[in-house]
Amino acid sequence: MTLYPQLILDALSTVRYPGTGKNIVEMKMVDDDIRIAGLSVSFTLIFDKPTDPFMRSVVKAAEAAIHAYASKDAEVEIKTRSLQAPRPELPDLLPGVKNIIAVSSGKGGVGKSTVAVNLAVALARMGMKVGLLDCDIFGPSAPKMFRMEDAQPYSERIDGRDLIVPLEQYGVKVLSIGFFVRPDQGIMWRGGMASNALKQLIGDANWGDLDYFILDTPPGTSDIHLTLVQTIPITGAVIVSTPQQVALADARKGIDMYRNEKVNVPILGLVENMSWFTPAQHPDERYYLFGHEGARLLAEEMEIPLLAQIPLVQDICESGDKGLPAATEPQSITGQAFMHLAARLVTETDKRRVNLPPTQIVGVKN
Ligand SMILES: Nc1ncnc2c1ncn2[C@@H]1O[C@H](COP(=O)(O)OP(=O)(O)OP(=O)(O)O)[C@@H](O)[C@H]1O
Ligand SMILES: [Mg+2]
Repeated sequence: MTLYPQLILDALSTVRYPGTGKNIVEMKMVDDDIRIAGLSVSFTLIFDKPTDPFMRSVVKAAEAAIHAYASKDAEVEIKTRSLQAPRPELPDLLPGVKNIIAVSSGKGGVGKSTVAVNLAVALARMGMKVGLLDCDIFGPSAPKMFRMEDAQPYSERIDGRDLIVPLEQYGVKVLSIGFFVRPDQGIMWRGGMASNALKQLIGDANWGDLDYFILDTPPGTSDIHLTLVQTIPITGAVIVSTPQQVALADARKGIDMYRNEKVNVPILGLVENMSWFTPAQHPDERYYLFGHEGARLLAEEMEIPLLAQIPLVQDICESGDKGLPAATEPQSITGQAFMHLAARLVTETDKRRVNLPPTQIVGVKN
């Protein structure tokens, strides 16, 4: 039996690409490099993406089709290539990003997202280029806090790759898994899905040049934190706590996680949130509802700066709900508190860069 290109194409036209109902010849997935020498056949199959989930099964099916319809003795060699260039490896993952700051806490609900969002807005007001990534895959808050609940990012093709374009609000580039998953679709994340989604938001998005890339992290010490420290070199972490003893105890755990010798991310400082209650009508009064001085003592004990104390005010809660962060009004009491925090953070980040070596990402053990 003599092999010739049309025979190979006829055999390949019996292979369907899953989910489309079309065959791989129709879909122009067979490159025009079919080589035949006696019973040896070689050619290339073209896929859109290097991560095409059906790549292996399509290659196997193509080989089987040639054996079934062209010659059972054919020696088949199939190469693959993709139209989309692969995601770059470190250190080229975020080439234009100068400082990556993780905002963390041990305990949930202490105000991480509020601090992260206002910090980002305040830094942008100082003239910095700022991005914010909402890493809370399970309970994203950025869409609401930035009043972008209906926003849908699009993608653009850059250097052979389709990249998500971060949305911009209050001078901050923003991405959140919440833009892609509707709040009513209680999604079940299995296995590595959440971590893959997060890696895409980091590596497959066009973040461009940023002075500060702020990561709003989920509560506690989770798989998401592990993914982050394995994916990007975090310049430093900011720990948020309330003055409550339970929150402080959890903050300590958060600090220990970053200081773990394998992780080794420097702590830039502690932010005490809900430090005292100030009624709107009496801006000079302070009521210490959750205790006093606890954060200062913890900061001293851990030898980290206390970057700011943010009062508990109705404003902050309302502005969060309205999607108009307090820092958009830098003259207000709360706006001032966040502007002060941003200035302190810049000082501490600069010090850290001078005094400590760059962070290394945590190696992934197989
Ligand atoms: N200083 C403050 N004054 C008044 N309300 C605040 C303050 N800080 C946060 N809040 C409110 O407390 C709630 C929880 O805050 P936030 O969502 O920022 O916490 P979180 O630590 O990110 O929570 P989670 O652990 O669920 O991610 C929000 O409704 C927010 O508006
Ligand atoms: Mg949050």
